[in-house]
Amino acid sequence: MTMASHPAWRSRDPGKRTLGKGHGAFFAAALRSPREVGTLLPSGPELARRLAAVIPRSGHPGQPPVVVEVGAGAGAVTVAIVQHVDEGAVVIAVEKDPELAEQLRNRQLGVHVVTADALMLPAILADHGVDRADAIVSVLPWALFGPQQQRELLAIFAGALRSDGVFTAAAYSLGYWTPAARRFRHELERFFGEVLPTRTMWRHLPPAMTYVCRRPGQGSDAVTVNLSR
Ligand SMILES: C[S@@+](CC[C@H](N)C(=O)[O-])C[C@H]1O[C@@H](n2cnc3c(N)ncnc32)[C@H](O)[C@@H]1O
Repeated sequence: MTMASHPAWRSRDPGKRTLGKGHGAFFAAALRSPREVGTLLPSGPELARRLAAVIPRSGHPGQPPVVVEVGAGAGAVTVAIVQHVDEGAVVIAVEKDPELAEQLRNRQLGVHVVTADALMLPAILADHGVDRADAIVSVLPWALFGPQQQRELLAIFAGALRSDGVFTAAAYSLGYWTPAARRFRHELERFFGEVLPTRTMWRHLPPAMTYVCRRPGQGSDAVTVNLSR
């Protein structure tokens, strides 16, 4: 397995990086594929840090952690992930939009950038010589996804995590009570034994919160998650 190494810019201001060149590419992608990008603005540094904060510092005993980011965009959250983990961690950033993926690759953050649909996650992990991930971070536009798409992705993510792994997802608070957002919360509880919503960051544009989900495969739908690998 190739380990990601983190380049010298690690110590620079993550906010400046976030609103740098990647912003134009992100805006263009949002206009091109509004239902897949889901917002005109990349995540702000506070949301990015909160998502990254739950990533374990180490992986399986004696191993560096394996972290997957799904829907990495131009790297707003990737930067916070790289700053959070120790050197040697394996960070795999999955992004469906080829132009955003290329933008992220050009930033040379020391992560493995894969241009693919997150549905391909098992194959992506296998390509990197990884059995399961320690953490999966998502900023996918869950409230715009239909029930089948939400369920399919969550089943894959729960099945791709170690039993002590963590899945974290960002959500926009103003839509918290919409049917799609409530359905997402319900779907999370089907696939994870523990689902913790965090407080709203009101100063984030748009206001956002996160779900921190543990005990994959121990939710109300335990039988559908493949834990045999
Ligand atoms: C809300 S944006 C978040 C981008 C970035 N992580 C951030 O926080 O600014 C959602 C991203 O997920 C990507 N995306 C949507 N569906 C996807 C899928 N099924 N697989 C991989 N990426 C996907 C979009 O192209 C977009 O870049």
